[in-house]
Amino acid sequence: MTTRPRQPGPNAPAPGKLTLPELAEMKRRSEKIVMVTAYDAPSARLADAAGADLILVGDSAAMVVLGHDSTVPATVDEMLVLTRAVTRGARRPLVVADMPFGSFQVSDESALENAIRFVKEGDAEAVKVEGAGPTLSRVQALVGAGVPVMGHIGLTPQSATMLGGFKAQGRTSEKALRLYEDARALEAAGCFSIVLEAVPAPVATRITHALSIPTIGIGAGADTDGQVLVWHDLLGLYEGRAPRFVKQYADLAGEIRRALETYVGEVRTGAFPEERHTYAIPEQELAEFEAEVAELLR
Ligand code: KIV
Repeated sequence: MTTRPRQPGPNAPAPGKLTLPELAEMKRRSEKIVMVTAYDAPSARLADAAGADLILVGDSAAMVVLGHDSTVPATVDEMLVLTRAVTRGARRPLVVADMPFGSFQVSDESALENAIRFVKEGDAEAVKVEGAGPTLSRVQALVGAGVPVMGHIGLTPQSATMLGGFKAQGRTSEKALRLYEDARALEAAGCFSIVLEAVPAPVATRITHALSIPTIGIGAGADTDGQVLVWHDLLGLYEGRAPRFVKQYADLAGEIRRALETYVGEVRTGAFPEERHTYAIPEQELAEFEAEVAELLR
């Protein structure tokens, strides 16, 4: 009997892809997990080459890519276009698609329908949902159907208005305890990981130690199992006011501005394009072409 080479099934990870058990193992080994957001294929390729473990196609795209003032306007269709682009560029990192506002709040059924779109049409390995409370039954429905889910608590930008703005969360004992309980409930509901955003470091540390799944912090101190930053913030591409938890590793906006100004200047002065940027045509062909044009113009 001949055996055919094993192809990955619809639910099997592609070769070379980080798996969820490997991610869980990283926490057990106290190996830091690196997540970064990305919204297109070239960025995903760069994040992959740099060694990122997870790429989040965040609904922060609404602000940093689509120019909105909040994450709320992002739609499933917009997020799907970005997710597809990222999954084409990411080989090893697991791609997590952020479920935008309205795509999982209504019912378990509609949440599942939308999550399945991210997996089938977007090719994402997992989805992320914000909040606890009613989100818990969504997590159970999605995980029950085989869609891996990342939770997100603390500052949840989709409900920033209810939280009183883009503010740190869990700064009273009561609120910190609520976060602790929410994190444990999300783990019990089946999340494979949880983002803790804008949470006091000691609270995030306590939560991280209480969970067996990895926590990914953003503005949650150094003791979470991993860290995430938004692409545009970390590379200095977003020119709005950055939150205090952002560390900017480059000034790409400055670089891009300088390059564009040089381009504009060179086009205006004729310094660009040069000979080496143009294509040649054999002299004989050119002479014949000129003769034919002259004939047409006669
Ligand atoms: O949308 C996003 O980019 C996020 C991260 C900040 C965690 O949710």
